Amino acid sequence: MYNSRIIGMGKYLPDNVVTNDDLAKLMDTSDEWITERTGIKERRHIVKGSDDTPATMGHKAALIALERAGLQPKDIDLILFATLSPDYYFPGSGVLVQKLLGIPACPAMDIRMQCSGFIYGISTADQFIKTGMYKNVLVIGSENHSGGLDFTTRGRGVSVIFGDGAGAAVLTREEDNTRGILSTHLYSEGEHAEELSLIGPSTQRWVPEIIAANDPDDISYYPYMNGQTVFKHAVVRFSEVINEGLQKNNWEAADIDLFVPHQANLRIAQFIQKKFRLGDDQVYNNIMRYGNTTAASIPIALTEAWEEGKVKEGDKVVLAAFGSGFTWGSALMVW
Ligand code: UT7
Repeated sequence: MYNSRIIGMGKYLPDNVVTNDDLAKLMDTSDEWITERTGIKERRHIVKGSDDTPATMGHKAALIALERAGLQPKDIDLILFATLSPDYYFPGSGVLVQKLLGIPACPAMDIRMQCSGFIYGISTADQFIKTGMYKNVLVIGSENHSGGLDFTTRGRGVSVIFGDGAGAAVLTREEDNTRGILSTHLYSEGEHAEELSLIGPSTQRWVPEIIAANDPDDISYYPYMNGQTVFKHAVVRFSEVINEGLQKNNWEAADIDLFVPHQANLRIAQFIQKKFRLGDDQVYNNIMRYGNTTAASIPIALTEAWEEGKVKEGDKVVLAAFGSGFTWGSALMVW
């Protein structure tokens, strides 16, 4: 059995910066409320009519990751594309990235695990690499949230949190079993599926039906989030799944060189940091600049941490996420 190892990371953020004060012009909210409850100061939004889509942003992040990995698109054996905001209802954005990369034929699979999508992605990549089936796997997390949010006071509990962007990782076969991804731990709990969800348009709420009803109060096509329930489950599941990974690898929290949590809410990250008694230099957060970018948040943060020299060869890195589904997971690796 081989290990898999990340050998290149990239990120892409749309240029358009939207501050809390910008949002306060659209809805009844304030910089104070958003900063205090979430830690977010600004996020990026795709400008309507621009070329940015989940696939094109993912493509741009992937090109950087490939260059840093020293690989060409033709070297990729499998594309995994994690998103909750695909370009099309179908087909998935993975095949669109494949087309943009000019790879004539390889499997390209979408992963619909929301905030945990990148962890599910690298875990899936790891399994294919471990068995020897594929050597080089491209994992992308990319989201266009701003195109589908309710920027009125009605939607403020959700719309101030989410931002757009993409991150990508190239994983390859690693023959030294002491480095690379050591373990991944994945969970879902469908009992809470509707607590953070977007129900329509879907096969439950067909578009013609929604149009025919012409109901201004129908908000089924906006995301719904029971924030407090999500928060309560998040802190428990984050802790459990990090602990499971630490135990599996015989690591103490003090051994962690860098913990990169899904950037859901700075308060959640700080709660976990405190619980595991991690120092500020052991945790990487950038939610203040980008908001919550769902499947893109961990690859964006990991790329940025690497660019800032905060992830070095031999470092013990822990990734963890929780989100809609509910889904959650962790990944432990030696860089
Ligand atoms: O990445 C996916 C996973 N998602 C998460 O992890 C999110 C987890 N949950 C959270 O981060 C928090 O629950 C939120 C940040 C979403 C909300 O914070 P909260 O402290 O749970 O606030 P709340 O929903 O209990 O709302 C408190 C008050 C309400 O007003 P009333 O009923 O007390 O009068 C809301 O209407 O704050 C109001 N409110 C706002 N006020 C100003 C909700 N959103 C806003 C807003 N600006 N944007």
